[in-house]
Amino acid sequence: MKKIEIKASLTVYDSLDELSEDVKALMVKAVAARKNAYAPYSKFRVGAALKLKNNEIVIGNNQENAVYPSGLCAERVAIYQAGALYPNVAIETIAISASSDVFNVLTPTPPCGACRQSIFEYEENQKSAIEIYFMGETGKVVKADSVKDLLPLTFGKATLNNI
Ligand code: THU
Repeated sequence: MKKIEIKASLTVYDSLDELSEDVKALMVKAVAARKNAYAPYSKFRVGAALKLKNNEIVIGNNQENAVYPSGLCAERVAIYQAGALYPNVAIETIAISASSDVFNVLTPTPPCGACRQSIFEYEENQKSAIEIYFMGETGKVVKADSVKDLLPLTFGKATLNNI
C-alpha cells in the first residue's frame, strides 16, 4: 500500500487588468455572453468564450429548461458549438465568467465536473492543452494551463481503448 499525491497548478490574477490583451478581450466576450444566459430558474448566469486556432471566437451561455436536467452549461454550449462549426480546429483558450441575479459572485467560478469531462474530450482529441481562465462577476481570475489541472484523473477514449 502506498499513498500518492496529485499536484495541480493554477495561476491567480488579481484582476482582469493583469491578463494579456488577448485574454482580457476574450474574458470581456464571456462577460457579455453571460448577460444573455437563459437562467430563469437558478438566476445564475455563466458565459464562456473560446478562442480557436483559426482565430475564430465561439461563445456560449447556460441554457436552462423547466425540466431542469435538460438545461446545459455555458462551457458545453460553447465547445459543442465550436465542434459543430469548426470540427477540426483546435481550441486554444476558454474564458468563463459567472454572475447571479440575486447575489454578487466574487469568487472565481470553475467549470463543473461534467464540463471538465467534456473539455477533456476535446483536449485529448486535439492533442494540445486548452488554457482555461475563470472568474466570478469581477475580481480575481484563475488560470489552469490544461483541464488536467482541474480533472487530474481522466477517463477518456484512451481509457476505453486501453492505449
Ligand atoms: N452552470 C454553468 O453554466 N457552468 C458551470 O460550469 C456550472 C453551472 C450553470 C448551469 C445552471 O444553469 C446554473 O449554472 C446553475 O447551476
